[in-house]
Amino acid sequence: MSIKQKTHDLKKRMKGALEGGGERAIEKQKSVGKMTARERIIALLDPKSFHEYDLFVEHAAKDFDMDKKYLPGDGVITGTGTIYGYPVCIYAQDFTVAGGSLGYMHAKKITKIMDHAMRLKVPLIGINDSGGARIQEGVNSLAGYGEIFYRNTQASGVIPQISVILGPCAGGAVYSPALTDFVFVVQNISKMFITGPEVIKTVLGEEISMEALGGARVHAEKTGNAHFYAESEQECFEQIKQLISFIPWNNMRKALTYLKKEPKQEEYNIGKIFPSDAKQPYDVRDVIRAIGDDSAFLEVMTLFAPNIVIGFSRLNGETVGFVANQPLYLAGVLDVDSSDKAARFIRYCDAFNIPLVTLVDLPGYLPGVDQEHAGVIRHGAKVLYAYSEATVPKITVIVRKAYGGGYIGMCSRHLKADFVFAWPTAEIAVMGPEGAANIIFKNEINSAEDPDKVRQLKIKEYKKKFANPYVAAAYGYVDAVIEPTETRDFLIHALEISQHKSEEGPKKKHGIPPF
Ligand code: HXC
Repeated sequence: MSIKQKTHDLKKRMKGALEGGGERAIEKQKSVGKMTARERIIALLDPKSFHEYDLFVEHAAKDFDMDKKYLPGDGVITGTGTIYGYPVCIYAQDFTVAGGSLGYMHAKKITKIMDHAMRLKVPLIGINDSGGARIQEGVNSLAGYGEIFYRNTQASGVIPQISVILGPCAGGAVYSPALTDFVFVVQNISKMFITGPEVIKTVLGEEISMEALGGARVHAEKTGNAHFYAESEQECFEQIKQLISFIPWNNMRKALTYLKKEPKQEEYNIGKIFPSDAKQPYDVRDVIRAIGDDSAFLEVMTLFAPNIVIGFSRLNGETVGFVANQPLYLAGVLDVDSSDKAARFIRYCDAFNIPLVTLVDLPGYLPGVDQEHAGVIRHGAKVLYAYSEATVPKITVIVRKAYGGGYIGMCSRHLKADFVFAWPTAEIAVMGPEGAANIIFKNEINSAEDPDKVRQLKIKEYKKKFANPYVAAAYGYVDAVIEPTETRDFLIHALEISQHKSEEGPKKKHGIPPF
């Protein structure tokens, strides 16, 4: 054959492979509002940057007449590309081909691109849209999942791993996303569960729809399995692009530096955001926006445990991770869910060289039988562990309340914060003035002629003594009491000074965090 004929042959083969599961399956995919796997990759990556590999991989199954079936690309598309010029490795399961089910060669394609990502030290993005283990391939499908889980674990903390759930992700398949750093879900499209509604009905007699069992909202709001929630695939891709712009390619690098831009003072002015009444709530996200470059803030896990806010912003062009109590919800307490949420984010930032800025305003850990029985001790300990273990620059700003365990847990000096600043509004004490006065002045209050009057006097006395930052500053636990408007300047300076921070813990194989 001449080169021309061979090229023609190549094109013909490619055309067949690129057709995916064929017209009918593609139509079905579209009819439920889903893009095809290839369309998704194109929409996410920089124009013309996608380079596909292993297009001609075919399945090797023989049973159940599989040897008579041609499954283009074996139901998964893999390759490399760029997002805003940043290199990424990517795979997308093609539901139009055997329901994107995972057989032996399908898994091989995925593990091969995972190995590439690890060798090249670039982020890995996996788009999941699959009926799970390919039933006809038996144990080989299970083996494939095991190989993926192993690689997810090895890659954890080395390269960023992003999972996008754009269809069903059922059975054991859910554990690959669960092992990755960020999970994206889309309204009405994402479905994640270990056992589906049919199995639940058979085994337990309970009836539930797929959406109510494991839809996008459920995972973004209730289970905490998802980190980003979008209303459309396009919005989801925009979120992924934003995230990629904030994080480094691997654990040996820092995130890229952007041009410094001042916050939008007119929209976000600390003086106006922060209430003069110490009991008034406020939206801590506005405080973050008043501090961060260009008032930009990419919030992570917006809907889950909203009593703590986590996410990325920039200071002087450099990415920082914010962890902040949210007085708008449950007074910003630490509870089981908010502890999990914060601890994981702290570990992510630490693994990927992202300095941590903590804004403190909380009355402590949430009391109650439910919380105690749900394991608030174990979960709360995760925050202490994560902060204590983190060696990236850690800067804490005590904004208002810092009571009891909340004071210690939110990256206090004692967990080795590099800098602790406090606003004049800070109240650093073992507990709130009302509770404290009731305990330590109990006898005086009870024996008084007018107990309420004495109680108020004692609360005032306690407030004067402890509900301020100056006792902590007198012991050096707080480095500087600063005006709220000076916060950005102090943070930027602290980050610059901490640029070459290096800290080594004791030699060990690994710690044993309260998982
Ligand atoms: C082989 C599969 C498949 C699977 C779907 N298909 N799932 N083929 N193995 N696991 C095929 C279908 O036969 C069909 O092929 C095509 O994909 C589209 O599927 P439909 O059922 O027509 O699509 P839809 O109605 O949209 O339903 C999607 C679905 C359903 C909800 C995902 O297909 C389903 O329930 N699939 C099985 C899910 C499951 O139980 N998986 C195994 C989980 S156990 P044709 O040729 O008709 O187009 C597991 C263990 C892993 O994953 C453990 C790892 C640790």
